[in-house]
Amino acid sequence: MESLSQTREPLFKPLRLPCGLTLNNRIAKSAMSDSLGDGTGHPTAAQIRLYQRWAEGGLAVSIIGEVQLTSGYAENPGNLVLNEASDLERFRKLAQHGSENGTGLWLQLGHAGALAYAPTSNPKGPTAFNLQGLRCAEITSEEIRQLPSQFATTARLAQKAGFGGVQIHAAHGFLLSQFLSPLFNKRTDGYGGAIANRMRLLLEAIGSKVRLRQVWTRTLLPRTRKASPCCDDQASYADRRLQDACTGRRRGGKRCS
Ligand SMILES: Cc1cc2nc3c(=O)[nH]c(=O)nc-3n(C[C@H](O)[C@H](O)[C@H](O)COP(=O)(O)O)c2cc1C
Repeated sequence: MESLSQTREPLFKPLRLPCGLTLNNRIAKSAMSDSLGDGTGHPTAAQIRLYQRWAEGGLAVSIIGEVQLTSGYAENPGNLVLNEASDLERFRKLAQHGSENGTGLWLQLGHAGALAYAPTSNPKGPTAFNLQGLRCAEITSEEIRQLPSQFATTARLAQKAGFGGVQIHAAHGFLLSQFLSPLFNKRTDGYGGAIANRMRLLLEAIGSKVRLRQVWTRTLLPRTRKASPCCDDQASYADRRLQDACTGRRRGGKRCS
């Protein structure tokens, strides 16, 4: 019987990404927060076994969801946390086993912001809210200033530990997505208001690690339920800016507010 790598089906053909990386096929395991960390932000044996089993299945990319830059804004107490305080050897073991069989094991870099798990975290979003089910402080300008280098540090450590790439989590209502949303983001400084400002932090996070080639961004750009030309303009403006940031391209173009 033909092995997966020998079939001629398009799904099993290699795929070259714009960043230059070639994936073995077109099957990716999307990011899932697995809650399998040990509570100190480190991988467990069960987690290593899980990613090893997925790799044995022959996928090209396997993404670990919600790997935090710091422990203060976790989406879940079982999230991995990778920074200078981490024991890199334990991450190296995860990278090694989860990358077997030619799989690229990637980390999705997350920051839950206003939706950080309150009992063990410190919810802070672009704007303070005191609503039932949404209580958070406002992230300060100084904290915003530090974030891009925190993304860069975690990405650099991921590379050092042997992971194949990183995905920036800018979807699902977490911090970067909160900045993109005019409902969450009522700031009046350079990070709020027009879409160009609301996406500034995301672009800074991407820009902070352009030297790492394997960066993938996951965004759900805010759109109203009723399609409106203004929102479509904002989304396509944001899409273009994101593409440019990820490929390092510079071009002029219409600014959208
Ligand atoms: C248990 C579970 C955890 C998830 N965790 C994340 C996550 O950490 N980050 C993320 O971007 N998406 C997460 N997702 C969304 C998945 O990546 C995916 O987009 C979603 O399941 C839809 O794909 P599907 O139709 O193939 O299931 C999660 C989904 C599930 C079911």
